Parts: sequence; C-alpha cells; structure tokens
Amino acid sequence: MKMLVTGGCGFIGSNFIRHMLNKYPDYKIINLDKLTYAGNPDNLKDIEKNNNYSFVCGDICDGPVVDKVMKEADHVVHFAAESHVDRSIDDASIFVRTNVLGTFVLLDSALKHNIKKFVHISTDEVYGSINKGSFKETDILTPSSPYSSSKAGSDLLARSYYITHKLPVIITRCTNNYGPYQYPEKLLPLFITNILDNKKVPLYGTGRNVRDWIYVLDHCKAIDFVLHRGNTGEIYNIGGGAEKTNIEITKMILETLGKDESMIEFVKDRPGHDLRYSLDCSKLRKLGWKPDHSFEEALVDTIRWYVENRWWWEKLKH
Ligand SMILES: NC(=O)c1ccc[n+]([C@@H]2O[C@H](COP(=O)([O-])OP(=O)(O)OC[C@H]3O[C@@H](n4cnc5c(N)ncnc54)[C@H](O)[C@@H]3O)[C@@H](O)[C@H]2O)c1
Repeated sequence: MKMLVTGGCGFIGSNFIRHMLNKYPDYKIINLDKLTYAGNPDNLKDIEKNNNYSFVCGDICDGPVVDKVMKEADHVVHFAAESHVDRSIDDASIFVRTNVLGTFVLLDSALKHNIKKFVHISTDEVYGSINKGSFKETDILTPSSPYSSSKAGSDLLARSYYITHKLPVIITRCTNNYGPYQYPEKLLPLFITNILDNKKVPLYGTGRNVRDWIYVLDHCKAIDFVLHRGNTGEIYNIGGGAEKTNIEITKMILETLGKDESMIEFVKDRPGHDLRYSLDCSKLRKLGWKPDHSFEEALVDTIRWYVENRWWWEKLKH
C-alpha cells in the first residue's frame, strides 16, 4: 500500500504513522504537512530515517503540491486540520480555509488519481451537544463552534464525493483523544504540563462538561481497521467508552501527580461550550473493533510520558 497521510506531524497523525510503519513494514507512507504551530517534526524523530517514510512540507490547499503527492499514492488518510476550538473562536478564517477548502482540494485530486480509499478523519464535535443518549452515524449534524462547523463542512463534502462521484470515501468521527505528542494547548497535556511546572490549571465554567476519551493508539488502530475492513461510503463513530466530566479528569491528573484541588483555577466559560458529547459506536464494534486500553491505565501512562519527555513539550510551552 502507498499511503498519503496529511497532517502526519500533528498529534494523531504522528501516532498513526508510527503505528502503521511498525505494523506493516512493507507499506510506504508520504506525509504531507504544512508544519503549522501544531505540526512538529520532533513527533516523528524516530521514524525520519525509515526508508518507507517520506515527508513533504506543503499545504493541502495548494493544488499542484497535492497533485504531486497524490500521484504517488493509492490510499489517503486525511488528518490535516486546524483543530483547536478556542483558536477558531478568536479567528475562524484559517479553519474554513484549511478544513473546508483543503479537504476539497484533496478530494478533487483523489478523484483525478483514482485513489482506492480515502479515509476522512472527522470528529464527534460535528454532531454538537447531547444531554441524554448517544449520537448514531445517521443523526443530523448540529455543530456549535467555528471549528466543528468547518469540520462538518469537510465531512459533508467528503460524503458528497462518494455519493456524486463514487470516490471510495470512508468517514470516521472520533471522540477526544489523549496520549503522547499532543500539543500542550489541549486540556490533558496543558493540565499535566502546568502541574509539572507548578502552575494552576484553568478549568472552564464549573468543569461539568462531559467528553468521551479514547487513547490515541486505540484511535489509530480503529483507523487502521477501517482502512482495511471498513465499507466505502460508510461513516463510523469511534469512541473509548470513557465519558468523564472535565472536573473528574482534572482531579484524576492532580491525584496521579500528588497535588490537591487548590491547583484548579475556574475561569470564564468558553462561548458556545457544548455540554456533552456522546457517541454510539456499536456500528464499528459489530464489525469487530474495540478499544484495547482502559482509561485509568492509559491516563497514567500518558501522564508518565509527559513526566519523562520534558524535552518534547518544554520548548513548545516556553
Ligand atoms: N485531537 C482529538 O481529540 C481529535 C478527535 C477527533 C478528531 N480529530 C481530528 O483528527 C485530526 C488530527 O487532529 P490532531 O489532534 O492530531 O491535530 P493537530 O492540530 O495536532 O495536527 C494537525 C496537523 O495538521 C497540519 N496542518 C494544518 N494545516 C495544514 C495545511 N493547510 N496543510 C497541511 N498540513 C496542515 C499541522 O501542521 C499539524 O501537523 C483533525 O482532523 C481533527 O479534527 C481530533
């Protein structure tokens, strides 16, 4: 398999590339990444010299660059995106450009080059908030933030390329990931690294927002599963089955690092902050995928990784 991975220098993309190269030593991977603030070549330092891996620094909105790498590939896994909700509230323009226009450029190029499978990485946030029960793949999309709306736009565009042009698209919608190499602006790495620096952790509102958490390697294995065994034209929800409030997570991190709740600083809530995300993942589970990691164990492993890898995050934070 010759795979084009977009956004492979980010958090999930880098974990995915490492997983694929370890599991399938004969697959070739081209990583197209613009190296925005969130793209970090350090994430793949151990992979750089692998003969089956190549890196192209480029923008997914740049048609000629995309065509050039697409020509070399038969499969695509599309992670590249602007991904931080708070930044999308400050300025949505780059979110619309990268997430919507960039996905369009990729889909169009994939069609021209007869790509065999195009996996579009979407998010649970496209469904919006749900107070009770869980969203199924057939539920309508009611996103709340400029980030999730731009992801919903790309998600629908990807689906339209399957319906209209028969491009073999698969869409995955995953819940909150945690694990190594996550940029320290997102809740878990921000809180862990703040505590390691003896700084308070800023918790939005009252901390009662609920998210489902999945260990990043379980997400990568789900994408691998879908890439090989998923049906084209289908949408698959992916979740870890670990719904927690933000305050619960915060307390777990504090306890693991031997700190008390005086480290919590409650801050003004994010505008439009969704209360709860929840996915029904039975469709993918029926096909045979399930997460391998328990939340409690993988959270401790993740905290340990940030404790042991200050070299990785210190230069990003300071
Ligand atoms: N992190 C999560 O919890 C989560 C959950 C569900 C879905 N997702 C989705 O998974 C994907 C990856 O998320 P992540 O957390 O790894 O994001 P990230 O912000 O860590 O990484 C994004 C990567 O995309 C690259 N990129 C950005 N704009 C680009 C452009 N115009 N051209 C080429 N490369 C560009 C960045 O340089 C970076 O390497 C995103 O599509 C996101 O919406 C994330």
